[in-house]
Amino acid sequence: MGWLRSGFSSGIDWLDERVGLEVIETLAKKKEVPVHRHTVWYYLGGMTLFLFMIQVATGILLLFYYRPSAEEAFESVQFLMAEVQFGWLIRSIHAWSANLMIFTLFLHMFSVLLLKAYRAPRELTWFTGVALMGMALGFGFTGYLLPWNELAYFATRVGTEIVRVIPLLGDSLLRVARGGDDVTGATLTRFYAIHVAVLPLITTAILGLHLFLVQKQGMSVPYSIEMAGGTKRSMPFLPNFLLRDLVGWLTALAVLAALAAYFPAELGQKADPFASAPAGIKPEWYFMFMFQTLKYLPAHILGIEGEVVGILGFALGGVLFLLIPLLDRRTARAEPSRLFTWIGVGIIVYVVVLTYLGYTVDPTT
Ligand code: HEM
Repeated sequence: MGWLRSGFSSGIDWLDERVGLEVIETLAKKKEVPVHRHTVWYYLGGMTLFLFMIQVATGILLLFYYRPSAEEAFESVQFLMAEVQFGWLIRSIHAWSANLMIFTLFLHMFSVLLLKAYRAPRELTWFTGVALMGMALGFGFTGYLLPWNELAYFATRVGTEIVRVIPLLGDSLLRVARGGDDVTGATLTRFYAIHVAVLPLITTAILGLHLFLVQKQGMSVPYSIEMAGGTKRSMPFLPNFLLRDLVGWLTALAVLAALAAYFPAELGQKADPFASAPAGIKPEWYFMFMFQTLKYLPAHILGIEGEVVGILGFALGGVLFLLIPLLDRRTARAEPSRLFTWIGVGIIVYVVVLTYLGYTVDPTT
C-alpha cells in the first residue's frame, strides 16, 4: 500500500505546484464548527447536499435509457425496470432520494427559521435557500410527469391548471407551462428540458452561492446561546465535523438502499389522455398542504373565486416568507423576537396538520 500512498501524495504535489492547493488547505483547516446544544441542526444542510448529489448521479444514469416522448417514455422506463441490470435500483433510489431530499430540506429550512440563522449578515444565505427550495419543488413537479403514467399525467393536468387563476395572464401562462392547451407530448418534452437542463444549471449556480456564503460567514451561533454567554467550544470541520457528516451520509445511503429494495418505485399504467381521470388523484406529499387548503376554501370569498384567493394567498405567503430576514426587525437588532418564533411554529404546525388531513380525510366528504 506504500506505493499507493506515495503515488497519491506525489500526485497532490504535482497539482499543488500548478494550481496552488494551499488556499483550499488553509480554508479547510481554519473552518471551525461551534459546539452547543443546537449543533445537531448543522448536519441537515450537508445531508441535503449529499442527497442532491445522489440525485445528480442517479439522474445521469437514468438518462442513458430514458426517452422523452409520449410514444416512448413509458416503454423506456418499463424496459429500464424489467430488463436493464440494476435499472430498477437506480430508478428507485432516484425516486426515494428525491423524497428524502425534500424532507431534509424542509427540516433544514425550518431549523434555520426557528434558530433565526437568517439574521444579518446571513440574509443572502436565506434568500438563496428559499430559491433552492423553489428549485427542489420544481424538480419534483417536472420529474413526476416523466414516466408518462396515468397518475402522473392527471396530476400534472390538475397541477398546471392552477396557473390559470392568475389574473389576466392565466390562460397564456397555462399554454406556456403545457406547451399547448392540454397536457401532451409537448408538455413532456418541455418538462424534460426543465428537469434535466434548466433546473440543474440554475440550482448548481444558486447552490454554489449558498455554500460560498456559508463558507465565508461560518456557522451562526443561535441567539439564545449567545445570550447565555455564547459557546467556547468548537470542533474543526476537517476532519471531526466532516467525519460525523459522513456517518450520517452512510446511514442515509443504507436507508435509501433498503427503501429502494423493499419498496421499488412503481410505474402503473401508461397515460391515456382520452381515459377518464382515475379516482383520488393526489399530488406529491410536499404539495399536499396547499392542495388540501384549496379544498377547504368556500366557492367565493368577497365575490372572488375561493381558489383564486387561495393561490394568490400562497403566492403572497411565499414572498413574505422570502423577506423574513428583512421583516424581522427585532432579530436584526439582536433582540429576542417572540413574534417570529410563533410565526415559524405556526407555519410548521399548519404544514404538518394540512398534510395529515390530506392523507386521512375521505376525498368524497
Ligand atoms: C438544495 C438545498 C440546500 C442545500 C444543499 C443547502 C446546504 C447548506 C449547507 C451545507 C449549509 C451549512 C450547514 C448547515 O447549516 O446545515 C447550509 C446553511 C444554511 N442554509 Fe442551506 N441548503 C439548502 C437549502 C436551504 C433553504 C431552503 C434555506 C432557507 C430558506 C437555507 C438556509 C440556510 C442558512 C440561513 C444557512 C446558514 C446556517 C447557519 O449559519 O447557522 N438553505 N445550507
